[in-house]
Amino acid sequence: MAYRESLGFIRTPSPFEELKNIRTLTGASQRLFIKRDDLTDVGLGGNKNRKLEYVMKDALNNGADTIITSGGKQSNHCRQTLAYAAKLGLECHLFLDGEDDTPHQGNLFVFDIFGAKLHFAKDPKDLEDGIEKLATELAAKGKKPYIISFAGSSPLGALGYVDSAKEISEQAKLAGADVTDIFLATGTGGTQAGTLVGAKLYLPEARVHGVAVSRKREEQAPRISALANETAAFIGESFSFKTEEIIIHDEYYGEAYAVPTQAGNDAVRLLGRAEGILLDPVYTGKAFSALLDLLQKGKLLRSGDIVFIHTGGAPAIFDFTESFL
Ligand SMILES: Cc1ncc(COP(=O)(O)O)c(C=O)c1O
Repeated sequence: MAYRESLGFIRTPSPFEELKNIRTLTGASQRLFIKRDDLTDVGLGGNKNRKLEYVMKDALNNGADTIITSGGKQSNHCRQTLAYAAKLGLECHLFLDGEDDTPHQGNLFVFDIFGAKLHFAKDPKDLEDGIEKLATELAAKGKKPYIISFAGSSPLGALGYVDSAKEISEQAKLAGADVTDIFLATGTGGTQAGTLVGAKLYLPEARVHGVAVSRKREEQAPRISALANETAAFIGESFSFKTEEIIIHDEYYGEAYAVPTQAGNDAVRLLGRAEGILLDPVYTGKAFSALLDLLQKGKLLRSGDIVFIHTGGAPAIFDFTESFL
């Protein structure tokens, strides 16, 4: 069931697979599952597609013919937005952090293939102004621009992860699994916020673990509770979340956002070698390293089973090959 009109470009449910080899290797008492949101059809897949299903539909409903969004040079959100724009025949402008001074590899390479109009903002402070200025210029030329902020992490975008939690509850039932813990990488927050709302509705026993990729718990948890509460209100639910209830693991992202960690890259290798599934060093590798570490420390010894959401991002690995040497 979709909560609002969505585009229907992704086939749902996305696959739900058991990680039997990882269970053997880790000696985990619970069953481990992976939700393959990296396989969500459009533009090499990833979590942003679930948000874009709703957000791009909203753009069309608003008569947009041009999309403007922003992100890092290896932004998965930008790649997926471009793919949606291409399918819909919309022009797509990207504002990227930094300068055009690095080789066009990984996602940055794909941006060109998907027809991006690239803009660079040297200073993060210039980003917002640049976007507004561009929107004004495009509108003056008769275009109808639509701006997607915060990688689609609005209540509308978060609905995609309410859907995902519902899928997980149905797939877990079919697999005879009793899900008590869900792991995911958390950045702008839409994935965790939507999953929290969806879990409250469809998987009430499950705890949602956000593995931070860029922020400390004190900063990330209030963002998540605020967005989860807005999302719940958006679909007419009366429950809410307190910031203290939000689970954020902030000890796995290392030095900074997008700086690979040894444990994260080891987790990428482990899943690759044990299950033939490719993670990435910025989001999912770090999130999977958290799950492995907590299992190893015996901190997940609850009776139920575990789901890891593969939120995508693997195309960026081709810009991080040196970190694996
Ligand atoms: C591969 C991948 N995983 C996880 C995330 C985090 O999702 P969110 O921004 O909804 O917290 C992102 C966001 O950019 C991503 O690209």
